[in-house]
Amino acid sequence: MRLLASSGDRLDEVRAAYEASHAEYLATTPVEVTGAMKEWMDCTLRGVPVNARILEVGSGSGRDADYFESLGYRVQRTDVVHHFIERLRGQGKDAEYLDAVRDDFPDDLDVIFANAVVCHFEKPQFSLFLARARAALNPGGVLSFSTKLGTEYEPTSRQSRLPATRKFSRWPTEELVRFLDDHDFDVEWLTVSGGIRSTSQWINVVAMRRRAIYEI
Ligand SMILES: C[S@@+](CC[C@H](N)C(=O)[O-])C[C@H]1O[C@@H](n2cnc3c(N)ncnc32)[C@H](O)[C@@H]1O
Repeated sequence: MRLLASSGDRLDEVRAAYEASHAEYLATTPVEVTGAMKEWMDCTLRGVPVNARILEVGSGSGRDADYFESLGYRVQRTDVVHHFIERLRGQGKDAEYLDAVRDDFPDDLDVIFANAVVCHFEKPQFSLFLARARAALNPGGVLSFSTKLGTEYEPTSRQSRLPATRKFSRWPTEELVRFLDDHDFDVEWLTVSGGIRSTSQWINVVAMRRRAIYEI
């Protein structure tokens, strides 16, 4: 499916913002997994065997993959920002370029994890992301992600914690759950928590790829 030009612009803008402000982003990003984030991440792996194939999109600092690996799992780290990828490789980690909207995912996945990544997508891009995730996940596979909470769907709120302004989308929980349902994902677990460094509220979701009739 081809992206509309405006959708592509949004992806390019977001990537450019992280490329421009990568050092400030890393300097202001928490280095530990604690509190509500830890609870959500632990829930993501509940019942998931340690030999599961896990893909992380938008790894950023790599903090979350490190946490999963501290529990005995292996994670494929990916991002679109070369500074982040090179930094992770410099730490001896396997990190690849993967645009979570434009690129195919590796197949046969058991878990896809995306912390604070789809919050940068508008609906058409989120829809493409969900289609790629659905195609890549094994039946019953887990999609775990976080995004920003809003009282109504708001595609272009801005945040300027960094020198480069980033655009975010905000979702009411009910609309997000319906959107996932329309894309064949069943929400297994959902919480709303405060942001680590901002007043934003985050929705943390663990969803399961619905099985097709022939897979049941
Ligand atoms: C707010 S940061 C979150 C980083 C990390 N997941 C965390 O929670 O610390 C958003 C991340 O998404 C990445 N990103 C932005 N657009 C992306 C895209 N189209 N595909 C994959 N990753 C993307 C950014 O480079 C950045 O690493």
